[in-house]
Amino acid sequence: MTRTLESITKHIGALPQMKSQTMKAIRIHNYGGPEVLQYEAAPCPKPGKGEVLIRVHAAGVNPIDWKVRAGYMKDFIAHSFPIILGWDVSGVIEEVGPNVSRFKKGDEVYSLPDHTRNGAYGEYIVVRESEVALKPNALHHVRAAAMPLATLTAWQALFDTAQLQPRQRVLIHGAAGGVGHFAVQLAKWKGAHVIGTASARNHEMLYELGADELIDYTVLKFESIVRDVDVVLDTIGGDTQERSWQVLKKGGALVSLVQQPSENKAKEHGVRGIRLGARANGQELVEIAKIVDAGKLAPVIDRILPLSEARRAHELSQSGHTHGKIVLRVKNGNGTTERMAR
Ligand SMILES: NC(=O)c1ccc[n+]([C@@H]2O[C@H](COP(=O)([O-])OP(=O)(O)OC[C@H]3O[C@@H](n4cnc5c(N)ncnc54)[C@H](OP(=O)(O)O)[C@@H]3O)[C@@H](O)[C@H]2O)c1
Repeated sequence: MTRTLESITKHIGALPQMKSQTMKAIRIHNYGGPEVLQYEAAPCPKPGKGEVLIRVHAAGVNPIDWKVRAGYMKDFIAHSFPIILGWDVSGVIEEVGPNVSRFKKGDEVYSLPDHTRNGAYGEYIVVRESEVALKPNALHHVRAAAMPLATLTAWQALFDTAQLQPRQRVLIHGAAGGVGHFAVQLAKWKGAHVIGTASARNHEMLYELGADELIDYTVLKFESIVRDVDVVLDTIGGDTQERSWQVLKKGGALVSLVQQPSENKAKEHGVRGIRLGARANGQELVEIAKIVDAGKLAPVIDRILPLSEARRAHELSQSGHTHGKIVLRVKNGNGTTERMAR
């Protein structure tokens, strides 16, 4: 039987759109400097049970990216090469795997994906449904991609771990950084008195975000001014952590993102000392999106770079003196992904 052109066209029209088996991504095949970031074709991942496939629009850059790239995390995170870096994503759901109930194709979402799996420096990423939330309506993808890892870290440090309460006093070290500038806003939203350390060039921005007191750590020892704080958020470690014990009230908490606080020092000062490892959490991202949409929380963006400039993004992040966040734009306005500069 011959089929009419019309019936063939109808049949083709009914076929699902075929997605390429490969995608463009930035991967590393060995540890090293920014030069090990390679822009190349990689297999396009497929969502399994309870997972979604996200078309990445933008990927946030965090210090963990260059720490993994340089091999500093190899004793803590079991990755196998090649690795796609980048554990901050905003994009659109392209496909849902079996047993996914909260999301559908076309949903605009953001996520902190599990950092033991491949990240978001590519056109697609597979993420567990439990790690995803609808992105804040108030933010386009490039700004939403700046949020998940750093806001969840600040949230889990201040609220889940330190149990920060309204009217308590909090000292945030590295207040101008990716985590710090969100911590300032979240602590303020909670009703706390917010003290931050940052170099003077970032003070205006931080006062606008709600900080009550700022100390230029390059010219003043914070412990010469600050007293009786309930919570210290330590994003710096070393000498900064060591000098923080004396500013805490008895019963207070020192939460560090970078270094295990000494148990002996904590006992000696009658406080808690906790090292936090932030975890993926879709439910907390739902709460964070509400605060963003209520106008109480927003990212400060230091730089937006195309995915092709991932090496530059790493150099900037590794300098340790960016303010707010760096974001890689993965999907251009015309739907393409750029080639990486050699
Ligand atoms: N454990 C976890 O789960 C977790 C999660 C997130 C981040 N982290 C870690 O936490 C650290 C901070 O992350 P981030 O994303 O906020 O980094 P970031 O954005 O790179 O932080 C940069 C900021 O740090 C400030 N800074 C540098 N030295 C300082 C000092 N001695 N005192 C006060 N501020 C100082 C800089 O301010 P100036 O330019 O004014 O100097 C800059 O604004 C990183 O080591 C990261 O790997 C850990």
